[in-house]
Amino acid sequence: MRVAVLTGGGDCPGLNPAIRGAVLRGLDHGFEFIGILEGWRGLVQGMTTPLGLEQVEEIISQGGTMLGSSRTNPFKKGSEGDVEKVLANIQALEIDAIIALGGEDTLGVAKKLCDLDVPAVGVPKTMDNDLNCTDYTFGFDSAVAVAVDAADRLRDTARSHRRIMVLEVMGRHAGWVALYTGIAAGADWILIPEVAVDLDEMCEHLCAVRKRGKLYGLVVTSEGVELPLGEGEHAAVDAFGHVILKERRVGEFLASEIERQTGLETRSVTLGHVQRGGPPTVFDRVLATRVGMLAADLVHNRQFGMMAALKGTEVVPVPLEAAVATLKEVPVEMYESVKTLFRR
Ligand code: F6P
Repeated sequence: MRVAVLTGGGDCPGLNPAIRGAVLRGLDHGFEFIGILEGWRGLVQGMTTPLGLEQVEEIISQGGTMLGSSRTNPFKKGSEGDVEKVLANIQALEIDAIIALGGEDTLGVAKKLCDLDVPAVGVPKTMDNDLNCTDYTFGFDSAVAVAVDAADRLRDTARSHRRIMVLEVMGRHAGWVALYTGIAAGADWILIPEVAVDLDEMCEHLCAVRKRGKLYGLVVTSEGVELPLGEGEHAAVDAFGHVILKERRVGEFLASEIERQTGLETRSVTLGHVQRGGPPTVFDRVLATRVGMLAADLVHNRQFGMMAALKGTEVVPVPLEAAVATLKEVPVEMYESVKTLFRR
């Protein structure tokens, strides 16, 4: 069997271990692999690279993806003809099955191709951790580790200068990264997209904390929170129609609003793509390896249209259709319970 592997969407630590897991397991099944470069763009344009033991042997600790990535969406309006090119290249490259590693968007394309009788399976990845039907996605743990390290550093300097620090982390629709970073770094306030922002409540709290004698503060915000940002709200969109969030400058807005409302000196830091680079954590290496291996088994068992998911401590197949049907958001009750940690 000739199996193509591709990685799409925003990269994150864990992609290389997952590719490795899929290839090593697939070799046991007698598969021959072919790497598709730059996500779905590679299948539109027929861009490939050799993929076998030699290529994957040393990549367990490497961040990024050895296959490259893109946000190309062959089903996008205005990309007419791209789906036909994908189908033609699958034939021309003699591909018997596809293992697609990605989040909601990349796996949404895999699901649509399955509907066109392309044999494909999915491997869930996203640092946002917002993919449905899996308890965790690899990339999340590594991203949070970077964000917590940054938050710890910011607390040191905030304490010295008696300042409020606002740390803006990634998280397009869901606040998992902000919530976990805020909990692990002992933040004084956390803002996530799932919960309406109450600036007055936050500022009143920060003032109360100061009055009690704690002379600095840390606020962790997700880039995706709803705020009255004016111009920023009309920022550009990507191939899947998502607003490019970094242009919204949420952290900067919050810092100036806090300073205006409280009179407390405030600075902001936007962590951005730093969260997406560097070596994967142990958790992500192991999770990525396991879901990659299961994906190869799914192909071997001809369980197409399925995704390798983490449920509790087990990796299990779930339908791609269910995984991409809706996003996994932070439950509001979870956020509410975390507010106990914001002491005044
Ligand atoms: O979807 C993952 C993600 O990291 C989001 O959290 C972030 O908004 C986006 O990707 C950034 O995308 P890009 O790499 O295209 O700038």
